[in-house]
Amino acid sequence: MTTTLADTWGLHESQFWLRGKHPEKLLEFSEDLGMWNVYGHPEIEAILRDPATFSSDTTRLVPADMMPDADTSTGSILQLDPPLHNKMRKLVSRAFTPKVVADLEPRIAAITRELLDAVPAGDRLELVAALAYPLPVIVIAELLGVPASDRHLFKGWVDRMFESADQVSLVKKDEKQDAAIRRSLEGQQALTDYLGVHVDERREKPRDDLLTKLVEAELDGERLSRAEVVDFANILLLAGHITTTMLLGNAVLCLDAHPEWDQRVRADRSLVPPVIEESLRFLTPFAAVARVTMREVEIGGVTVPADRMLLCWVAAANRDERVFRDPGTFDPLRAENPHLAFGRGIHFCLGAPLARLEGRVALNILFDRYPVLRTIRGEPPKFQVNPNMTGVRELPLTTV
Ligand code: HEM
Repeated sequence: MTTTLADTWGLHESQFWLRGKHPEKLLEFSEDLGMWNVYGHPEIEAILRDPATFSSDTTRLVPADMMPDADTSTGSILQLDPPLHNKMRKLVSRAFTPKVVADLEPRIAAITRELLDAVPAGDRLELVAALAYPLPVIVIAELLGVPASDRHLFKGWVDRMFESADQVSLVKKDEKQDAAIRRSLEGQQALTDYLGVHVDERREKPRDDLLTKLVEAELDGERLSRAEVVDFANILLLAGHITTTMLLGNAVLCLDAHPEWDQRVRADRSLVPPVIEESLRFLTPFAAVARVTMREVEIGGVTVPADRMLLCWVAAANRDERVFRDPGTFDPLRAENPHLAFGRGIHFCLGAPLARLEGRVALNILFDRYPVLRTIRGEPPKFQVNPNMTGVRELPLTTV
């Protein structure tokens, strides 16, 4: 059996799909987590396309002390069901339009060049600190209209939110889990307070930025409440942080592990988008999305009662042999790539066009500048410790 990228770098042991293994069952109840795990692609796709049966409002099942403060949070768009979700999605889509994203291309290229210009001369590059972390944060901060120079603050808060190495669980475990949840909520609260100040300012003094557009967006005479704008800005800033960072790092890691594709994509840049899509399938940044059953329902021949939490492992589904031929092979030119890395259905990632654009622009500039980008023996990449994520936190590379 060949060594997988996950074995080479010692990725989280629970991420079996990265090691060429298949789940014993497509659906199983985990006593430990108090949730059902779903691993199959058609099953997950059907779940994500049926919000009436599978609600995104997981707050119904999460104990109150594991939740953000109810007074200051409305719950995010991610956790809304129809009809409220449609309303919210329409409103925010008016501010975060395809044109707003497409117009960012020159700025994304300029920021990428500035960041790489600042890398000390030499034959190495730590990709995350140099580019993969700051690029998406600066882009989203500028778009929202908050000072990009505050990014060390966001980083502290966001790191606190994702520092736990334990699996999310509905089963109360120990003090350690409580402390991790507390720290995560503190980080979330600090970010919320920070954004609240900016939202209030925009209400007083509108500017030409996304926060103002969100404050002013209207649907049938209705506007978003202060808490709704803060929550949405919160999601964007969070999503703007870790996701594209993981996408960029993972794409470079995939090319490092598959030098033949590294050569091909450098020679033919039309392959950059398919390389990004295949990296999203091969090393899916967010491994799972959660849903709650609204009624008793049969999934893949198994009956699941009402009011149960489902963890839909999109990362495992992205290696489902029924959908992907040779799922363990990195093949950007596979005939079809219906990966679920950005989800499906009504909650399909709103930031997907931005993530794809940042990935394309940054990879092209990296290829132009560095003829070689390879991992360094004895200096392995460091990964996110959270088992629901696959992405680098540090990626030391040699450029010669
Ligand atoms: C590689 C990068 C990214 C990945 C893998 C990713 C993944 C996802 C997934 C799986 C969902 C669906 C969650 C569900 O169905 O419960 C989602 C939703 C969402 N994403 Fe992303 N995301 C990425 C980048 C971004 C970026 C850059 C932004 C914004 C700047 C963003 C904003 C959002 C928002 C607002 C939603 C909620 C949409 C809704 O509920 O209607 N994402 N993302």
